[in-house]
Amino acid sequence: MVMRVALVGAGRFGALHLHAFRSLPVEVAAVCEPDGERRAAVQEEFGIPAGYGSLDELLERESVDLVDVVSDESTHGELVLKAVEAGCHVFVEKPLSMDPAEAGRIRDRTRARGVQVVTGQISRFGAGYQHLRDVLDRGELGRPVNLRFRRDFSRSWFPAFGRRVHPVWESGVHDIDLAVWYAGAPCREVYAVQRRVSGLEYPDTLVAVLTFANDVVATVESAWLVPDAAPQTLRGSLELDGTIDAVTELLGDRGTAAYRLAHDGLSVRTDTALAQPELTLWPTVAGRVSGALAAELGYAVEVAAGTRGNDVIPLDEAVEGIRIAAAVQRSAEQGVRVTLGT
Ligand SMILES: NC(=O)c1ccc[n+]([C@@H]2O[C@H](COP(=O)([O-])OP(=O)(O)OC[C@H]3O[C@@H](n4cnc5c(N)ncnc54)[C@H](O)[C@@H]3O)[C@@H](O)[C@H]2O)c1
Repeated sequence: MVMRVALVGAGRFGALHLHAFRSLPVEVAAVCEPDGERRAAVQEEFGIPAGYGSLDELLERESVDLVDVVSDESTHGELVLKAVEAGCHVFVEKPLSMDPAEAGRIRDRTRARGVQVVTGQISRFGAGYQHLRDVLDRGELGRPVNLRFRRDFSRSWFPAFGRRVHPVWESGVHDIDLAVWYAGAPCREVYAVQRRVSGLEYPDTLVAVLTFANDVVATVESAWLVPDAAPQTLRGSLELDGTIDAVTELLGDRGTAAYRLAHDGLSVRTDTALAQPELTLWPTVAGRVSGALAAELGYAVEVAAGTRGNDVIPLDEAVEGIRIAAAVQRSAEQGVRVTLGT
């Protein structure tokens, strides 16, 4: 059976999803995008028969199996709840929601409606991050002690994002989710500090310390301060050229492991620029968007079809990530330690 999909939010990343859907057994039956010009452009480019300005209207008129939410971060929770109440399965880009209470409601209503919600924590579908998880599971590092995460982005991207959303919901949620995945226990305490170097509404640097119930300590750092002269690691398909520089280190009592997301394995040098394109997230291979993005969308289609369980990013763990991210924001804004209950 070909699954009928509705795309909600046809911006930069939504367009990349549409490219990835081309190699999956789905029919993109409708798009919801409030910007009429953008909506018409993607309908034309990807041959999508129906277009709507709101999800309410789409759900009223269309019968779809899977709703793919790729809109601005602040809209996710409400859109997911609408789709779930309409009896649709959902793939939602990170973050699942920006409100822990709403994330809890999504979990409850998803169970009540008997549908599946898959959160786009893309790192769980990246081969390097998966390998770290396997190494931990096999006990090669012994007991995990410290988890270190650093994820820096181009300074030139910040004027757009620094007015849109606190970075914990943009760059931070990737590593908070990895910390949840690797720690394997609930988070008990969060302490975070932030700085506004650029003077915009939201901070461009953030450092958080997360303590888990099994005494694992994770540090999550993110700075949007990478200068333009740094090697470009994201180019082309996302319509956003620049640098993502992300490093993960796991320290156990018997061994350590490290992974750098983008590196110099591929480099392109010209008189004016150096590029070291990242090849695991959404590379184009044989004319198709592949890598972790295609893998997570393919996984969502299988979960929605009922041919596999939602065991890679269970909803409980996605909700835990939202609880931690909200605590990080509160800690950083108020300068307090935040204790998380059970
Ligand atoms: N996993 C990753 O590595 C990764 C990378 C990039 C973006 N993302 C995520 O993808 C999402 C979209 O990011 P983007 O860069 O494409 O942003 P964008 O601003 O380019 O696109 C967002 C689109 O959503 C539309 N929109 C806003 N409110 C809407 C609503 N209520 N209903 C339907 N559409 C609505 C906007 O008009 C816009 O076209 C974000 O959640 C972002 O965090 C994830």
